[in-house]
Amino acid sequence: MKNKSLITLLMGVSFSSFAQIPVYQDVRQPLELRVQDALSRMTLEEKVKLCHAQSKFSSNGVPRLGISELWWSDGPHGVRAEINWNDWGYAGWTNDSVTAFPALTCLAATWNPEMSAGYGRAIGEEARYRKKDVLLGPGVNIYRTPLNGRNFEYMGEDPYLAGVMCVPYIQELQKNGVAACIKHYALNNQELWRGHIDVELSDRALHEIYLPAFKAAVQEGEAWSIMGAYNKIRGQHACHNDLILNQILKNDWAFDGVVVTDWGGCHDTQEAALYGLDVEMGSYTNGLTSESEFSYEDYFLAQPYLNMLQAGAVCQSTVDDKAARVLRLIFRTSMLPDKPFGSLATQDHYDVAEAIGNEGIVLLKNAPVSKKQKALLPIDPARYKRILVVGDNATRLLNEGGGSSELKVKDMISPLDGLKARYGDKVNYTQGYTAGRPMYGRIEGIPQSISDSLRKEAVRMAAESDLVIFVGGLNKNHYQDCEAGDRLSYGLPFGQDELIREITGVNKNMVLLLLSGNAVEMPWLDQVPAIVQSWYLGSMGGKSIANVLSGDINPSGKLPFSFPVRLNDCGAHAFDEMSYPGDSIRQIYKEDILVGYRWHDTKEIPALFPFGYGMSYTDFEYGKARISGQTLRDEQLLTITVPVKNTGKVAGKEVIQLYVNEAEAKVLRPTKELKGFRKVELQPGETQEVTFTVSVDDLKYYDDTRQAWHAEPGAFRVLIGTSSADIRSEAGFNYEPALMGNK
Ligand code: GLC
Repeated sequence: MKNKSLITLLMGVSFSSFAQIPVYQDVRQPLELRVQDALSRMTLEEKVKLCHAQSKFSSNGVPRLGISELWWSDGPHGVRAEINWNDWGYAGWTNDSVTAFPALTCLAATWNPEMSAGYGRAIGEEARYRKKDVLLGPGVNIYRTPLNGRNFEYMGEDPYLAGVMCVPYIQELQKNGVAACIKHYALNNQELWRGHIDVELSDRALHEIYLPAFKAAVQEGEAWSIMGAYNKIRGQHACHNDLILNQILKNDWAFDGVVVTDWGGCHDTQEAALYGLDVEMGSYTNGLTSESEFSYEDYFLAQPYLNMLQAGAVCQSTVDDKAARVLRLIFRTSMLPDKPFGSLATQDHYDVAEAIGNEGIVLLKNAPVSKKQKALLPIDPARYKRILVVGDNATRLLNEGGGSSELKVKDMISPLDGLKARYGDKVNYTQGYTAGRPMYGRIEGIPQSISDSLRKEAVRMAAESDLVIFVGGLNKNHYQDCEAGDRLSYGLPFGQDELIREITGVNKNMVLLLLSGNAVEMPWLDQVPAIVQSWYLGSMGGKSIANVLSGDINPSGKLPFSFPVRLNDCGAHAFDEMSYPGDSIRQIYKEDILVGYRWHDTKEIPALFPFGYGMSYTDFEYGKARISGQTLRDEQLLTITVPVKNTGKVAGKEVIQLYVNEAEAKVLRPTKELKGFRKVELQPGETQEVTFTVSVDDLKYYDDTRQAWHAEPGAFRVLIGTSSADIRSEAGFNYEPALMGNK
């Protein structure tokens, strides 16, 4: 009997005849059959209940039918500690300490999809063990400004890199029966006024820059849920927005999962009913601190929605679609047959975290200290008797603070722990500067006397040391790398610039580690011989740092975002306040499609450290790129091969990047756009032939006159580089659409 007639037969059978259980409970039945059977048994009230929270981090099931509730949990870097049923306080459990994995900027900086797969598997096992059905991450908002407080949770300035690097995380996470919840869809590219700022931008910027990573997450990652952003887009809140939810996400991209609000992101029942929202969480609160006296029945998609449905003010089909999506999510997660059991804070997960840190750390500078003294890295212990570690970030628990991504950890190896384990008694420590506690909404004032004494002590000790390892950067305090606020300036906080200058004044041998999720200004660049971008690395951070500084691991990270020399060199800050941060009501993305290196290249404003940049302890030589043809037609592929050789003395990994350039574009196009990358490991003296393929899709831009992606016939070039600003080889070809070839 054909499948179709079998399904038809079963549709008429509300019980699986051979099992005497309801079809929706029979895990042998196709998912859609189970969804429709469950839906057919539900009352209107039960359907509406599926569409909103029952507590701070859980949403209703259908108790009468034995359909379980859903448990949602932050965050993108690990499973957040248990929160109270009905307020934002932590529940104080003693069994919810987890692995803190490196921040997603670090994962992006690995440029290694295998690291992303390991991340998703491990964090999925921890979420499953903690009995969470939806993990509220990963975040893929584009890095538009270095002042955005949440860039540390995201994957950089390039939509292609963010898309490629989020997909394996989602796929492996979901294999644990835990849904990814890709966020924050969309255009939540700053934290200032995040709850209401109304973003205006061109169709090209929307489709070419801000949507592709979400599209990859949905279509390739097959994410089972997505979180609407707090902000507005062209006048409508992102959490109930006809354009991005109904037209683009659910229609064009065929998303079959659940759209959930950011906590408190719903503002209107009718819009929520009609414009693509499925589940409302956290209304009347801000997802961080504020509480509310409203009950869950007061939520927009609760009693007010039921009233509208019963009055016929909105169609029943709206709630059937929402409820079907929620049922699908429940059957994929909390009611998944043969659910794995997961695991928590295991050595395997620590190894994953350490490996991501090893591959994500970026070596920015490693210059000889003088004509007579070679570069400081890797640190050879035989050269030093006294190594001074300076900086609040050497010991600070950077898993705390930062907002909803904060974590309660079982273990945390700090940079100081890692360096002491590697260099033993040679290591001394002094704080150098203090930053106060991570708090929302305000900065803890530090008495000048304390700052002065810490600085004087650090300078004194530095003068008596052979090597200084400065561990600074930003932190998870408000107005730093923290949710619900943006940075107030581009420079390092807490007096670090002055401290760095004074220390290098008494000791030139400084290795500077920046722990941050954002670029920072570097007025001391010429005085510091070695600079390492070290990210927020989580539980095993100190080990990864010691691995790389010692040379046990050869650094291979590449920047996922540009470091402008000064803030106004960044596209978002090159215009007026309407571009950033907006006028508190509206905002216009005036740099349009020219975000990050697209701006630096096209406007010829060199970055201090460019997108895709990262040094190694070895050197790589690129040969001439070879291309398989001079003409590319539709449905064809061109193959580009480039030999890459390790010409140094140690093994190392290199990220070979492929950019595409349209020579004579009729419309504004960036000078180059990332369309491929390969990370390869090469032994000393080894050469590998690195291969890419290019298709017509890699040539397209979003044509707002056609409202479709389109490639112009004509000359293109592929640019093969070790960074966006260091192209080592290139090759040209012509694109001729099929019909031209028929002439
Ligand atoms: C927060 C964040 C979001 C988080 C949610 C729950 O406001 O914006 O990323 O997942 O609320 O904590």
